[in-house]
Amino acid sequence: MLEIKKIYHYYGKAKALEEISLKIEEKALDAVIGPNGAGKSTLLRVISGLEEPDRGKIEFLGERIDKLKAHKITKKGISHCPERRRLFFDMSVADNLKMGAYPVKNKEVYKAMKNFVYELFPRLNERRKQRAGTLSGGEQQMLAIARALMSKPKLLLLDEPSLGLAPKIKKRIFDVIEKIKQEGTTTLLVEQDAVLAMDIAENIHLLEEGKIEMRGTKKELEKEPRIKQVYLGI
Ligand SMILES: Nc1ncnc2c1ncn2[C@@H]1O[C@H](COP(=O)(O)OP(=O)(O)O)[C@@H](O)[C@H]1O
Ligand SMILES: [Mg+2]
Repeated sequence: MLEIKKIYHYYGKAKALEEISLKIEEKALDAVIGPNGAGKSTLLRVISGLEEPDRGKIEFLGERIDKLKAHKITKKGISHCPERRRLFFDMSVADNLKMGAYPVKNKEVYKAMKNFVYELFPRLNERRKQRAGTLSGGEQQMLAIARALMSKPKLLLLDEPSLGLAPKIKKRIFDVIEKIKQEGTTTLLVEQDAVLAMDIAENIHLLEEGKIEMRGTKKELEKEPRIKQVYLGI
C-alpha cells in the first residue's frame, strides 16, 4: 500500500533521514521505534507531505506522492495524527471532529465516522460540548486520534500517541489502536515505548540516527541482545 524507496531528508545541512526504505502492506499495523531525535516524526512528516524528501520516492497505492502538497495527500487517504496533540483547544470536542472531517464531502460518511469514533471513545461522546483545552491529557490524545480518523483514512499515521500519559491511559489508547487495525485501517505507528509498540505491531522498524537499523516481527526482535538491553530493559 505504501512504499518508501531510499528517502533522504535534511534540515539545512543536518541529515534527519538516510536511505529509508519501508513497505507497508494493506491492513497492516507497523511500528517505527527509536529514541528521541532518531527521525521518527520527520519520517511521518515526509509521508504526509509536511516536508518534501530531498531524495527518494514514496508511492501510495501505486502512485507517486512525494512531490504532492499535504492537503492533496490527505485527500488521497493518508491522515496524520501529529505529535503533541495539535488540537483546536478553544473549540469543542464535536467541532474538532468536524475539522478532521474536512476531506469528507459525503454527509452519510461523515455521520458514520462520527458514530464510529464516538463508539471507539465513549468518553468523547460524553464530552461532545466540552472545550478541547479543558480535557485531560489522555482525553486530548483520544480526541487527536479520533480527529485523524474522521477523514476515513486508508492509512493512519500516529506520532507517539502514548507520550506523557499514565500507564493505564497508555494501555487504553493502545487497545483502541488495535481496534482500529481490526476495523481494517492500515496504520503506521511511531513510538518511543518499544514494549507497547512491539506488543501490537506486526512489523517493527528500528530507527536510529535517521537510519533503519533493524526490522522484524516481535518474535524476531525480542531475540536481539541490543533490542533487549536498550529498548526492552531485560
Ligand atoms: N524543523 C526542524 N528544523 C531543524 N531540525 C529539525 C527539525 N525537526 C527536527 N529536527 C531535527 O531532526 C532530527 C530528527 O528529529 P525528529 O524527526 O523530531 O525525531 P524523533 O521524532 O524521532 O524524536 C533531530 O535531530 C531534530 O533535532
Ligand atoms: Mg517525534
